[in-house]
Amino acid sequence: MAYESVRGMRDILPEETPAWNAVEARIREIARAFNYREIRPPVVEHTELFSRGIGEATDVVNKEMYTFPDKKGRSLTLRPEATASVVRAYVEHGLFNTEPFQKLYYIGPMFRYEKPQKGRSRQFHQYGVEAIGALDPALDVEVIDLAWTLMESLGIKGLSLRLNSIGCPEDRVRYREALREYFAPRIGKMCPDCQRRYEENPLRILDCKNEICQPHIQGAPGSVDYLCDECRDHFEKVKGYLDQLSLSYRIDPKLVRGLDYYTRTVFELVSVDLGAQDALLGGGRYDGLVEQLGGPATPGVGFAGGMERLILVLRARGLLPESDSGVDLFLVTLGDEAMSAAVELAHALRRRGIKVDLDYRGRALRKQMKYADQIKAQHVLVIGENEVKTGTARLKEMTTGEETGVALKPEEIAAKVKGG
Ligand code: HAM
Repeated sequence: MAYESVRGMRDILPEETPAWNAVEARIREIARAFNYREIRPPVVEHTELFSRGIGEATDVVNKEMYTFPDKKGRSLTLRPEATASVVRAYVEHGLFNTEPFQKLYYIGPMFRYEKPQKGRSRQFHQYGVEAIGALDPALDVEVIDLAWTLMESLGIKGLSLRLNSIGCPEDRVRYREALREYFAPRIGKMCPDCQRRYEENPLRILDCKNEICQPHIQGAPGSVDYLCDECRDHFEKVKGYLDQLSLSYRIDPKLVRGLDYYTRTVFELVSVDLGAQDALLGGGRYDGLVEQLGGPATPGVGFAGGMERLILVLRARGLLPESDSGVDLFLVTLGDEAMSAAVELAHALRRRGIKVDLDYRGRALRKQMKYADQIKAQHVLVIGENEVKTGTARLKEMTTGEETGVALKPEEIAAKVKGG
């Protein structure tokens, strides 16, 4: 049988990894500029973490989780997102005992059983940040600013921020009631999922992508009309800081985001290249999650974005490096003695930090030269019988074609290669 990767889970091939590495390096650089530290939670968690943390009524938990029993029959799940894991780690390690305020970032694979399509896969990768331990609206804006700074530093323009506040749990009780009242006469004409959502959590109806539901959703009340004074004040301050930083936003009163842990601020950053539906990244506050997962009452705010989507956008705009930089030196060898000398030279040069490669297939000179070109070697050193005998060879600079004589000594070759 011919093996294939699992549907929706694809290889990131060597042609693509330079782009991934470049983007990941930029994410780390910007996260550090905002003083976020990296955290790497495991990929597998106990299922209850997600069903409790994200919410039973969400699509992610309801339809999209990769859940399986381990050998002892415990239910485990491949993480569909990382916020619940980061908060679990915060609580489990008692991070709040040493420093309750933690600014963390992560990059890694996530798993959701969704229909694979452009920018959407079953194993995908997220980069994200979580700032846990402060309620200040300036922190919401720091997180948004980090996302924005990252996108701009990657060269993405045409960004638009969708912003909303869904208030505190008390506000949401009122809002949910208003939604129930609004949808009551309409729900019979809506999709079976929405009928379930109507019972479980009518907020989730607003995430529905089904065409038949859209006309009904359009006229639904917005959450900002149900905010208490404190939540309204928080939202006003968030908007004030955004204005101050000239980060433009559009209030979307029906943006509720597909996960149950959100409170107050929710947002998505959208790029025109992806179409209206698909957000580059999304996030918000989750002021009840730490407590819900067994920690002390502690607020939090964060976002996550999909690497695949980001790379699609960057590629569409020609903003990606297409390949790795080449090697510093390729050793062309002719014969066994030359090979023996080259093996030793390569070993010594690599330990000096020079990027070196050589031929292992006994190919003809012309083929080796062609290969050196293909791997973007900056220099080539041809070693044949004569060179071994005299202990000298000619070092060729590939762009200029200039040749200089060198002794077959690592120090000398290293100095010449580094110097030019
Ligand atoms: P989310 O909106 O479910 O939020 O996912 C965040 C981002 O992950 C999306 O905007 C999208 O770019 C990407 N994404 C989601 N599903 C897929 C998929 N199947 N294929 C490719 N990319 C995908 C969260 O996950 C929250 N944990 C974000 C957060 C952090 N909120 C607060 N802190």
